[in-house]
Amino acid sequence: MTTPVSQVDGVDLRVEDLTKRFGRGAREFTAVDRVSFRLGTGETLGLVGESGSGKSTTVRCLMGLERPQAGTMTYNGLNLRRMTFRAERVFRSQVQMVFQDPYSSLDPRMTIGQIVGEPLRVHTDLDAAQRRDRVGEMLERVGLEPAHMKRFPRSFSGGQRQRIAIARALVVRPRVLVCDEPVSALDVSVQAQVLNLIKDMQQEFALSVLFIAHDLAVVRYLCDRLVILEKGRAVEEGPRDQVYGDPQHAYTRSLLEAVPRADPAAERERRLRRRGSITSPSQAEAAA
Ligand SMILES: Nc1ncnc2c1ncn2[C@@H]1O[C@H](COP(=O)(O)OP(=O)(O)OP(=O)(O)O)[C@@H](O)[C@H]1O
Ligand SMILES: [Mg+2]
Repeated sequence: MTTPVSQVDGVDLRVEDLTKRFGRGAREFTAVDRVSFRLGTGETLGLVGESGSGKSTTVRCLMGLERPQAGTMTYNGLNLRRMTFRAERVFRSQVQMVFQDPYSSLDPRMTIGQIVGEPLRVHTDLDAAQRRDRVGEMLERVGLEPAHMKRFPRSFSGGQRQRIAIARALVVRPRVLVCDEPVSALDVSVQAQVLNLIKDMQQEFALSVLFIAHDLAVVRYLCDRLVILEKGRAVEEGPRDQVYGDPQHAYTRSLLEAVPRADPAAERERRLRRRGSITSPSQAEAAA
């Protein structure tokens, strides 16, 4: 008999040859094409690719939100494509997700206390007072205040909403956090704060993180390993420094080209050059 998944220590999340097609007949199209990767204990894995490369579809399959046509997905030996009710509960408490758009991912009719407390209601035996304490603690940990519990999502900014989403994901002490472009809908000025928070939480809770981004700059800061997706295919995979330092695939190199330079002077020059190439008639007149 296999060990129940709830008694297995650590994290071993495996995706092998995952394939997801949409549409039928002549309109059929493969959004995820035999993608494989593995996430281990305490690791941060970046899944990177342009818009439409199949990143969200991959994690939606993983989280049971889409049904793939082929491939295997296992979590600590548990087959995610055929789970018992009990196994699914364990998976759902140990693997949590933060979505891209904090405006649509929080129910506007629920208070912050209800939103962050919901996973506790589903996954623990804590009573209402205990849940309130845990929610208050969690809100403080993500840089908000316990008093925010009584408010509704509409009174929070995008960055604050993402903090609330992170609190909701972590309140049940999961082992894995799946983040689908958690900062791309935010103002540039708050992106770094939210990334810092995710990094802090990753260390504090010893999380394994599956982090999706279309931007290699974002994942460089967070991830130990990277998988590069192009049109549904994993074209490159490896440790961060290898992928950045010695990219093997042309597509990876083109993504790296799009990464803003760390050197401000070089970045400024690059911007000017780019602007120069698209000088508008009015700019040309002004310069003349
Ligand atoms: N439910 C669906 N029905 C049909 N096509 C879909 C569906 N969901 C996704 N697709 C298509 O699958 C492809 C991959 O989409 P996906 O959302 O996974 O990309 P992504 O890498 O997450 O992109 P983005 O960076 O824009 O979020 C796209 O061409 C998309 O239009
Ligand atoms: Mg997406």
